[in-house]
Amino acid sequence: MNTQSNPRSEDVTILRALLEAEEGAYVSGSGLAEQLGLSRVSVRTRIQQLESEGFAVEAIRHKGYRLLAQPETLHPALLEAEIARKEFHLPVHLLHEVDSTNAEATRLLSTGAEAPFAVLANRQSAGRGRMGRTWFSEAAGNLYLSLALRPQLPPARMGPFTLWMGLKVCQFLDERHDAAVGIKWPNDLLCNGRKLAGMLTEARIDTDFTRELVFGLGLNVNSTPADWPEALSTIATSLREAIGKSFSLNAFAADLLATLVEAYEAFVSGAYAADFKVLWTRYDSLMGKDVTLHSQGSTFEGTACGINDDGSLALQRPDGSRLSVRAGDVTLRPS
Ligand code: BTN
Repeated sequence: MNTQSNPRSEDVTILRALLEAEEGAYVSGSGLAEQLGLSRVSVRTRIQQLESEGFAVEAIRHKGYRLLAQPETLHPALLEAEIARKEFHLPVHLLHEVDSTNAEATRLLSTGAEAPFAVLANRQSAGRGRMGRTWFSEAAGNLYLSLALRPQLPPARMGPFTLWMGLKVCQFLDERHDAAVGIKWPNDLLCNGRKLAGMLTEARIDTDFTRELVFGLGLNVNSTPADWPEALSTIATSLREAIGKSFSLNAFAADLLATLVEAYEAFVSGAYAADFKVLWTRYDSLMGKDVTLHSQGSTFEGTACGINDDGSLALQRPDGSRLSVRAGDVTLRPS
């Protein structure tokens, strides 16, 4: 595992100032030096260090500094600066590479780390999906992130949790980035009929409480078909492929983390319930479709007709009877 060091606070301050400068404007070196209590030479040294990490900064005598380009991967100080600009608080552990962000979040929770916090990585060596599957996790401009939580809610309340988080991700992608996304029960986000993202929620449950909860999200952001293995070439997509433009990964990640934290808080308070059905109606990609459902060793055929309050899938069977299924995998049948 290759841990990135914590960002230096002066780097976060410098990057925030550069990001917040008006288009084309320069940030004064002496202003930064004064703000940081450093010499101008020390500021220049930090900026040179940032350049060696993938930033391009123009320096003009008597004018100051201007940010021209930023790294395409997640960068600790840049992500921290973007989070600070959003003005929400969330401790973030950013790793260059890890086996799985879900596994790392679980390990940190078990050491007593205060939640909520997030774990993100540029690459996972053992990214995991549902049902023992692996998740494509190369360093290709995608997001691999986990939110570590201690909701202290009864397990019976947790049924719709993953779906709710997925709906809020759909709303974020749709309303902020104009992506035509949908959710496929129970854990897939689709775009143009292809898989854009997958969610994996893992919990440690005591008798009455969900003690530890890890919400994992793998979202293909800037990867292109050339990055994917052959087996994914016909079933995967990325935002870049769907929308036709690439994203500033750190700003995108900060925005998404803010959305996830807000979604989690609404879930815990119960305020989510009013929006749940509305968003489900908007983003359900299975509604009215003929599906085959595999659940706990059995196979059912029917028409998907929404979900119930507990997050189970409602299925109308060919004989007209209704079935509610809490766990399983769905495939579409050709109509
Ligand atoms: C699936 O579709 O089967 C779920 C995929 C979930 C992948 C994410 S990537 C971040 C987090 N860490 C993991 O190891 N898995 C989840």
